[in-house]
Amino acid sequence: MATSRKTTSRATNAIHGGAGPHHVGDPVAPPLVQSVNFIQEIGTEAGLLYTRYGNTPNLERVQKRLALLEGAEAALLLSSGMGATACAMMALLRPGDHLLASANIYGGTLRLLTEEFTRNGVDVTLVDPHEHRVWRKRLRKETRAVFVESPVNPTCRVIDLRPISQLTTEEGLALVVDSTFASPINLRPIEHGADVVIHSGTKFLNGHHDAMCGVVAGTESYIQEVLQKLIVWGQAADPFAAWLLERGLKTLDVRIRRQNDNAMKIATWCANHKDIKRVHYPGLIDHPDHEIARAMLDGYGAMMAIELSGAGKTTERFLKRLKIFQHAASLGGVDSLVCEPRYTSHARMSSEERARVGVPDGFIRMSIGLEDAEDLIADVEQALK
Ligand SMILES: Cc1ncc(COP(=O)(O)O)c(C=O)c1O
Repeated sequence: MATSRKTTSRATNAIHGGAGPHHVGDPVAPPLVQSVNFIQEIGTEAGLLYTRYGNTPNLERVQKRLALLEGAEAALLLSSGMGATACAMMALLRPGDHLLASANIYGGTLRLLTEEFTRNGVDVTLVDPHEHRVWRKRLRKETRAVFVESPVNPTCRVIDLRPISQLTTEEGLALVVDSTFASPINLRPIEHGADVVIHSGTKFLNGHHDAMCGVVAGTESYIQEVLQKLIVWGQAADPFAAWLLERGLKTLDVRIRRQNDNAMKIATWCANHKDIKRVHYPGLIDHPDHEIARAMLDGYGAMMAIELSGAGKTTERFLKRLKIFQHAASLGGVDSLVCEPRYTSHARMSSEERARVGVPDGFIRMSIGLEDAEDLIADVEQALK
């Protein structure tokens, strides 16, 4: 007997969203269909399935689920977060167009927009995302889209999407939001007027540090345009990445809630420690964006940063002494990680430039995982001694 399911809650959608009716004998865990090609009917172009076309079984399943989680009409899975941003923006911008982008975005995205897109005839203006009036001032008649990232990697600043989406709606521009740091459990940009949502699925969505992928969500017609870019630029995700992502999504809701709680406890503890000069976490009431975060987010997230008192080798000593936190790039998974953006995303900037964007030398980004919060606090405490 077949039963079909209609659900709206994110926890349930993360597990079942987009899956078809259940039949007796179906496997509960979705099978991995690794084949890149499929036998096709003779005499018609219909039914052409090919992994590079982004339409094979594991991809199709997870794409429907991602759309439901974001509250979007459709979503696409791509080979990485960078692949997602590249195809999302290529589908929106042509040579001669102008893009307004937040100056506070992931280093890879900044390079993509200011080096690659500009080389291909798109003019990009970077804007301080907290200066609401500046967005309007920088508008031109060629402006087609606005790009923001929120919360921001690695500063954990939260952008108020409301005034920006008011502007993009009035002016008929596309608002693109990279909400990798939040995941759809903490933020659904479409609810705040965004047109396009981007994720590095490598991070919270997969959540286990073992799959690379990216997501673009938006209207059905726009996603069809992104799909054409995905196909010709060869940006489809591998079926195994899609399978791992689907497996990761099943625990998304519970992971994010626990990670939110852990981060809040650790940030609060750090804020009261004499050897920690500064804590960057939007859940703290003295964070500059706390009120915006309260309005925008359902949870303050698992990303935070600290700056230690003391100079020179203090940061290096601290990182070397940590036992549970691992020193590694990337973020959002079950294992807690630390890294210094000056050696990763911000390595191409000078020390002064980094300080200007809020990432001074000694800035330690922390991705809080699922370990026991007390154990993580004890790890930080022993490393500070
Ligand atoms: C906010 C943000 N967007 C996009 C990306 C790019 O994602 P990926 O590494 O999956 O290409 C990253 C990577 O760190 C990121 O932090």
